[in-house]
Amino acid sequence: KGQSQHKGFGKLILFGEHFVVYKVPALVGAVAAYTECVVEPSSAEWSHGLIVEDNRPAIPGYKDEKADEMLEGTQLVLKHLGWDTAKKGLKITLGGDLCAVSGIGASAANCVSVARAVAAAQGRSLSEEEINAAGYEGEKGYHGEPSGIDNTAATYGGVLKFQRTDGAPLFETRKLASPALIVYASTGITASTSKVVADVKAKKEKEPKWFDGLLAEYLDIYNAAEEALKTCDWKAVGALADKNHALLQQLTVSCPELDKLVDAARGAGALGAKLAGTGRGGLMWAICADAKSQQAVADALGKIAPQVWKTEFA
Ligand code: PMV
Repeated sequence: KGQSQHKGFGKLILFGEHFVVYKVPALVGAVAAYTECVVEPSSAEWSHGLIVEDNRPAIPGYKDEKADEMLEGTQLVLKHLGWDTAKKGLKITLGGDLCAVSGIGASAANCVSVARAVAAAQGRSLSEEEINAAGYEGEKGYHGEPSGIDNTAATYGGVLKFQRTDGAPLFETRKLASPALIVYASTGITASTSKVVADVKAKKEKEPKWFDGLLAEYLDIYNAAEEALKTCDWKAVGALADKNHALLQQLTVSCPELDKLVDAARGAGALGAKLAGTGRGGLMWAICADAKSQQAVADALGKIAPQVWKTEFA
């Protein structure tokens, strides 16, 4: 029918999960996989209501667990863009190659792709900023009060510095002269971002000095990572990933399943590895020196992880 598909990218947090909540900068990279959305406005057969056909690949249980949040997020995007399905029906079909799994920003990819498709169906050409804002509204349906890092990566793609402020968040693209070769793998465990973020907050309030110490160490890692990105020094990025993972262990957001995958990636020759996102489940990533090593790491992880993917940050 000549309908065009509209995309939102998945992402991995390179450096700064959890710390980013406290308004320090983080680095995030969009993965190659994306969610795409096609919308069909109602026809003579049906005049109103919302139909969502969700054809996205996902780890077992993920879509059922998130079904209500997905509908709520979608409805918030529609509301933000002024599409009232009580007046004019809409069928939304979600697809693409992004596997919906904890930590990959599947919700943001979903909301951004819906925002793009709905705006196109309305005949509007929205700026990327407006798409990002619509995506953020949808993210609230999933997460309540997210930092905004996921929808920003889902909208703009590439590698970004992201920082929360008291007002609008700041973000900047980081251009890489050569691509970073990444393997990422799932523990198969769906983590609750709001619960883990609340736990970290409680620990921070109980032991502020301890938390400030970790935050200071994180900032050193972040600054060194910015330098390493400038020269595509992947060996340095790997060493910093290892350090950041150790910090996240101290923050108590890793878990035996993540540690096992991180250790296996290092054992198979990765330059470094860390958990990505909320932790206590979800994903980890590893960075590799070349395509051969990337394959070796993917093979090693494939033996112990339920799902493994390769991607590049470019
Ligand atoms: O699990 P993810 O990829 O949605 O990442 C959550 C990142 C946190 O820093 C833990 C929370 C946030 O809102 O930034």
